[in-house]
Amino acid sequence: MTGGPGARFLSDCEVLANDEVAPEQWRMRLRAPSIAAEAKPGQFCMMLTNPTQYPFLRRPMCFEQIFDQEVTILYKVEGEGTALMAGTPPGQRIQVQGPLGIGFDTDDDAFARHIIVAGGIGVASFPSLAKALTARGVIPEVIIAARHAHLILCEDFFRELGCEVHVATDDGSLGEQAFACDVLTRLKPDSDTRVYACGPMIMMKTTSDAAIAAGANCVVSLEAQMACGDGACLGCVVESTEEAEGEAMVRVCVDGPVFDTTRIDWAAHNLAYAP
Ligand SMILES: Cc1cc2nc3c(=O)[nH]c(=O)nc-3n(C[C@H](O)[C@H](O)[C@H](O)COP(=O)(O)OP(=O)(O)OC[C@H]3O[C@@H](n4cnc5c(N)ncnc54)[C@H](O)[C@@H]3O)c2cc1C
Ligand code: FES
Repeated sequence: MTGGPGARFLSDCEVLANDEVAPEQWRMRLRAPSIAAEAKPGQFCMMLTNPTQYPFLRRPMCFEQIFDQEVTILYKVEGEGTALMAGTPPGQRIQVQGPLGIGFDTDDDAFARHIIVAGGIGVASFPSLAKALTARGVIPEVIIAARHAHLILCEDFFRELGCEVHVATDDGSLGEQAFACDVLTRLKPDSDTRVYACGPMIMMKTTSDAAIAAGANCVVSLEAQMACGDGACLGCVVESTEEAEGEAMVRVCVDGPVFDTTRIDWAAHNLAYAP
């Protein structure tokens, strides 16, 4: 895992573009030179979605792509904060704090095969990862899974990078009708494989189970509601298999969001598929 307490910035970033790319899914392009210079795949930023005091809390968003001077954010409208983001026109400025957290390890030579498994908007952190891996000659395979065809994002991007892409939908409206974990099992990962998963918790757990059953290494990028994004409020803790200072908890904002799956106590989460 990379990143951690390095340089970070609080910047007023100009919105260069903000487009709806699928129903309720948007891509915002920001001019953010300082943040872009430090950001690593899998790290995130905290965005102030409204220059007034409401909503008060910044919203966490990972970096979809990282360029020299710019970053893109791929986001789904969930509630008030993201609805305000969707209403932000190009030219407006938005306060962004970052880069934050521990991202993906893109330099680890320990694995011959790399498989990205994205569920829904969880795909948002993977274009930057795929680009970083590809830049050092490692072409990841990619599974993109979602409930329905219109929620399959970034397929063309991964194909243009040269990745083998497998698409699956819950309702069979695009690709095969299957869950991400079943596609992963069919691809036969082994002990020489690293699996990267991000999506709904149930999807990450089942993907992680499939990876571990096959003897593969697996890292997950977790989501949690965040207040401070800085390790102070404990609003983002999740149950862990490791105990530190008498607590078996990790903070998603500073200990993650990317974790080796063996550090997460999946059994402590009451997870079920909700169609
Ligand atoms: C490290 C990290 C990176 C993220 N990256 C992205 C990204 O790249 N693209 C993207 O679309 N989203 C991302 N998210 C999730 C995003 O932060 C939330 O969707 C957003 O904060 C919702 O804000 P809102 O004001 O629109 O919704 P709210 O009004 O705050 O909430 C609307 C509903 O969504 C639920 N909710 C809110 N936040 C979360 C959360 N973090 N996890 C689960 N449920 C939540 C609430 O309980 C509520 O039911 C990320 C989250 C984390 C922790
Ligand atoms: S959001 Fe405050 S500790 Fe993680």
